[in-house]
Amino acid sequence: MNLKGRSFLTLKDFTPEEINYFLELAAKLKADKKKGITHNTLAGKNIALIFEKPSTRTRCSFTVGCVDEGAHPEYLGKGDIQLGKKESVEDTARVLGRMFDGIEFRGFKQEHVEKLAKYSKVPVWNGLTDTYHPTQILADLLTMEEHFGRLKGLNFVYVGDGRNNMGNSLMIGCSKVGVNITILAPKSLWPEEALVNECKEYAQTSNATVTISDDVEAVKGADVIYTDVWCSMGEEDKAAERVALLKPYQVNKELMNKTGKKETIFMHCLPAVKGNEVTEEVFEEHADVVFDEAENRMHTIKAIMVATLGNKELI
Ligand code: CP
Ligand code: NVA
Repeated sequence: MNLKGRSFLTLKDFTPEEINYFLELAAKLKADKKKGITHNTLAGKNIALIFEKPSTRTRCSFTVGCVDEGAHPEYLGKGDIQLGKKESVEDTARVLGRMFDGIEFRGFKQEHVEKLAKYSKVPVWNGLTDTYHPTQILADLLTMEEHFGRLKGLNFVYVGDGRNNMGNSLMIGCSKVGVNITILAPKSLWPEEALVNECKEYAQTSNATVTISDDVEAVKGADVIYTDVWCSMGEEDKAAERVALLKPYQVNKELMNKTGKKETIFMHCLPAVKGNEVTEEVFEEHADVVFDEAENRMHTIKAIMVATLGNKELI
C-alpha cells in the first residue's frame, strides 16, 4: 500500500483497504513502542502543527509521534500566525509548504484544511474541524478491533449531537469498514441527509447498515455505545439549550442496560463533561477502554504521518 504524499482531510477520501492499512500500521507501531522501539522514519522532516482551537490528545499525539520518529514539530497556536485574518489561507499555505514537509490543522472550517492541502502541496492532516474529526476515528476503530478482535458486524451506537464532527466522521468510518452504525439523536440534531445517503452507499459495499433514530430503544443489541460533548468547541453559547434537548440521551446505567448485552462497552473521544453526556458511574466503569482509546490517538496519528510522509522501509 502506498499512501505517500496523500493528505488526510476526511475518511471519505480513503478506501476500506486503506483505512485497514492505517490500522495495521498503527498496531505495529504500537507494539514496537511498547518494546521501546522507534524507527526514525520521519528523520529530517519538519512538521507544522496549526491549532486554532485547544487540544490535549491531538496536539500531544502529533508532537510525540513526530519526536518518536525523528521529526521536528513546530506548534503554531491561535494568535501565533495570521491564518485567514491578516493573511489569506492560500498565502500561509504556500509559505508553510516551502518550509515544512507536513502540516496538521485543527480549526473551524473544513474549507481551510482543504485549501491548506491544495496550496501547500505537502501532506495536510485534519486534526479536527467543525465538520470532521478523521484522526479520532482511526483511534476508535483500533480500540474496537483490539477489544473485540474484529470490526465487521459490530453494532455501534453514537448517542447525542448527531450532526457534529464526531457524528459525521463516525458514520463515514463505520460504514466504510463494515460496522453497523446507529446515530441516536433528537431530530433537530440529525446529520445532513446527503451525508447519510453517502454513508448508506459505503455501507452497501461493506455489508453494514446506517440507521438514524431518535428513540433510545435503538441501543438494543449495541456492542459499543459512544458519546461526545453536547456543545462542541465554538458552540459554548448553546449550552443551556443543548442540556435541555439532550438530557434524555445521557449515557447512564439505564441506557447501558437497554442494550441487553453485558459486554457492551462505552467509548468517548474526550474531553468528557461528566454529568452531561455521560454519568461518572458509566465513565469510570469503562475508563480502561476510554483511556486505551485516548492512547491510541498517538499510535494512529503516528501511522498517518509515517504512511503519508515517512520512510516505511525503516520499520
Ligand atoms: N479527542 C480529541 O480530539 O481530544 P483533544 O481535543 O484533546 O485533542
Ligand atoms: N465535538 C467535539 C470533539 C472534541 C474532540 C468538539 O468539536 O469540540
